[in-house]
Amino acid sequence: MDGDIDGEHDGGPTPEREVGVGPWPGGREAWPEDERYDPELLEHGDRRNVVDGYRYWRLEAIVADLDTRRAPLHVAIENLEHDANIGSIVRTANAYNVAGVHVVGRRRWNRRGAMVTDRYLHVHHHPDVAAFAAWAESEGVVVVGIDNVPGSTPIETFRLPMRTVLVFGSEGPGLSEEMQRACAEIRHITQHGSTRSINAGAAAAVAMFAWATQHLAR
Ligand SMILES: C[S@@+](CC[C@H](N)C(=O)[O-])C[C@H]1O[C@@H](n2cnc3c(N)ncnc32)[C@H](O)[C@@H]1O
Repeated sequence: MDGDIDGEHDGGPTPEREVGVGPWPGGREAWPEDERYDPELLEHGDRRNVVDGYRYWRLEAIVADLDTRRAPLHVAIENLEHDANIGSIVRTANAYNVAGVHVVGRRRWNRRGAMVTDRYLHVHHHPDVAAFAAWAESEGVVVVGIDNVPGSTPIETFRLPMRTVLVFGSEGPGLSEEMQRACAEIRHITQHGSTRSINAGAAAAVAMFAWATQHLAR
């Protein structure tokens, strides 16, 4: 409703919405006999941000299950600065259940926006572009840069490779010259407004969505 900016509405304060589930109904006697379930969560409830099918599951059991159906998509981020967008990119990568996330450059990255979603992914570190490019070549994965640079082509109009790694640049400088040279192609998201670029986390979400609409069945 208009003007409802401080969490209040006509009926008074907005009630707190409980996330997740409480202890397993029926107590210990009713606990399921399955290694995937975590006794701690069964006992105390599961307040994690996981889909309902994974409620009460151990972290390792969730990762093992995700591993059986990873997308053949990788994403990479050039970590030239302590870029807050990396967390957001990792979170979206989790949503598309990507095969791997690659941090190129500095090993340390700002995990805040990831909201612990990185625990469900395989995150790899490459010290420099050469190491990253060597990995991609050895795996037969096509390196596609995502940036609006001279010579880039629109992501909207051409199919993206199936086995690919989409590479995103840092919020300030964008993709480095060296990374641009390592890319088989570079795609931009066509913009229609006045600013040069969108937020790198937003660009990553658009690019992963574009890949998924082309390659993932419903
Ligand atoms: C601030 S932008 C980079 C700067 C950009 N090259 C420029 O000319 O200002 C940071 C990152 O966000 C992503 N990005 C932002 N806008 C984009 C767009 N329109 N198309 C593709 N990628 C974009 C790219 O990965 C880029 O490296």
